[in-house]
Amino acid sequence: MSIVTPPPAVPRHLAIIMDGNGRWAAQRKRPRMIGHRAGARAVNTCIDFCLERGIAALTLFAFSSENWGRPEEEVGALMKLFLNALEREVDELHRRGVRVRFIGERQRFSDAIRARMQHAESLTAGNTRLHLGIAASYGGRQDIAHAARSLAEDVAAGRLRPEDIDESVFGTRVALADLPPPDLFIRTGGDIRISNFLLWQLAYTELWFTDILWPEFDASALQAALQAYASRERRYGLTSAQLAQGAAALSEVSAR
Ligand code: IPE
Ligand code: IPE
Ligand code: MG
Repeated sequence: MSIVTPPPAVPRHLAIIMDGNGRWAAQRKRPRMIGHRAGARAVNTCIDFCLERGIAALTLFAFSSENWGRPEEEVGALMKLFLNALEREVDELHRRGVRVRFIGERQRFSDAIRARMQHAESLTAGNTRLHLGIAASYGGRQDIAHAARSLAEDVAAGRLRPEDIDESVFGTRVALADLPPPDLFIRTGGDIRISNFLLWQLAYTELWFTDILWPEFDASALQAALQAYASRERRYGLTSAQLAQGAAALSEVSAR
């Protein structure tokens, strides 16, 4: 996709760990699944916000590699919710100019879900208003291991020399390689950790954590995160003085 450069204070790419659905339900003495359903609604709020603000890319952590280990009943209910959301939301996303793409181990999903993912991706492939990435059965280590394997295959086949492998070549093999790395990462739900999300891609991302549980995360919370982001100084290892000089070096390091 082509990423139009928005005003510098607005992130081009926002990545979110949508956490706290279970605790939101527990607070209401309801089953965890009720929290997941409420969480699905918050996703729409977030997409609306990105469309309004001209944020070019949004990547959401929907289901981690580790989440397969949850009780069978919860995994089953989440899969149903995922399939329903794919059936219900994709046409509207397409109408609004959203390109949808999935990252993660797709082969672990049912045929029905995989078919819907494929359909959503091909239907929306030409859209450019917002790039929506859904991380499903995704793990950052798995992503990096997969990139290493694909490079090793090229070396074994004689297409690539080991000495040609550097950060930029490696970076072309991880998920979302065609997007700028996330400018801003948000995690809701109060835990201060990355939980195996985009490990490679988050190297220089600004991190923002909030206690708000995902089903309650709304436009004003997003606005607060954007405000915090706008006040950060992204130095990429350089000094403030260098930044003040508008160091050409900065564009070099931040482009990685
Ligand atoms: C995040 O909410 C959604 C998924 C991981 C699928 P949780 O289900 O982890 O909610 P908490 O952390 O238990 O509150
Ligand atoms: C991270 O949430 C994954 C998603 C939001 C999909 P978890 O609730 O699984 O994270 P941990 O295990 O508490 O770190
Ligand atoms: Mg959680």
